[in-house]
Amino acid sequence: MKLNIAVLPGDGIGPEVTAQAVKVLKAIAMEFNHVFTFDYGLVGASAIDKTGIPLPEATISTCEKADAVLFGAIGNTKYDIDPNTKIRPEQGLLGLRKTLDLYTNIRPVIAYEDLLNKSSLKKSQIKDTNILIYRELTSGIYFGEKKLSEDGNTASDICQYTRHEIERIAHLAFQAAQSRKRKLTLVDKANVLESSRLWRRIVQELAPQYPDVKVTYMYIDNAAMELIIKPRQFDVILTENMFGDILSEEASVIVGSIGLLASASIGKDHAMFEPIHGAYTKAANKGIANPIASILSAAMLLDHFGLDDEAALIREAVDKSLKLHITTPDLNTKYDNITTTKVGDFIEDFINNPDETNLNFTNIHLGQSTII
Ligand code: IPM
Ligand code: MG
Repeated sequence: MKLNIAVLPGDGIGPEVTAQAVKVLKAIAMEFNHVFTFDYGLVGASAIDKTGIPLPEATISTCEKADAVLFGAIGNTKYDIDPNTKIRPEQGLLGLRKTLDLYTNIRPVIAYEDLLNKSSLKKSQIKDTNILIYRELTSGIYFGEKKLSEDGNTASDICQYTRHEIERIAHLAFQAAQSRKRKLTLVDKANVLESSRLWRRIVQELAPQYPDVKVTYMYIDNAAMELIIKPRQFDVILTENMFGDILSEEASVIVGSIGLLASASIGKDHAMFEPIHGAYTKAANKGIANPIASILSAAMLLDHFGLDDEAALIREAVDKSLKLHITTPDLNTKYDNITTTKVGDFIEDFINNPDETNLNFTNIHLGQSTII
């Protein structure tokens, strides 16, 4: 298969982790005889530094021409300090989601057997957790009208949803549930918010089209608690933009590190794949950033094009790296010399030589690998 992939490394740790994902995609292309080409673009704080704006036209057209976008991370703490800043790196990511109409954000939350002891939650509580969060990504409070009064003392952000915006993602979430444990939980705040009542009404209307799916409804405050105390009760969670942002970050506690959570953002004509973590500016260029979320995002990219064996091989390589503790310091207790690049090298090596890698594992641990 020929795929042209737009790569937007972005800010902070984005470039380092994305480089590992690109390396892994190249290894997959070699192993399975695909032709993957990569076109790079600027976004976020690094785009502001070079062009004055967070989402240059050239980046938009690179993404529009591509079959898929691989995104790194966005943000720089220097913009967080001043609430009066008019130009922010995040506008790059939000603008991209809106322009490419990437309305469905899918965030898998899987408790890896080998990492159960990395979570601050009890093993017995989180074991076998496997959740798919369907987060609406192009509407709601993120994109509603924003106002600041002239005297600067009153501000508002409108949370608005239309039937169309809810229906299109709800159908996808129902279909995802059908191919899993057939359970869909709508998370909302329908006891307070009109927009949530619209979500609930529409999901109730659609439910009869999916009679094999059991639908439950949960308020966001309660869901935030249930997710931590009984995560296994969830299969597919469907929710609006901001609730999904918060719940998915909370869910990373189950997995053990936010550095493991990948995501796919899908629209009718475009698709983008990105880790759920941010730019983590303090960690940039230290070799300590976990590249697995980015690598698993690349696996989701391959899923999107039906390249199932290829995606499965990446996941197998990731599982192996976790089993052997070839992981960055956020997860490591065993070895202290495993850098971002080494994790990428290991996964690349596994893909190219799944049968021979045992020799290299040892070498990597000793820092003597010939492949690094
Ligand atoms: C995410 C991030 C973004 C969001 C930020 C960087 C704008 O937190 O993808 O979860 O809020 O959507
Ligand atoms: Mg977030």
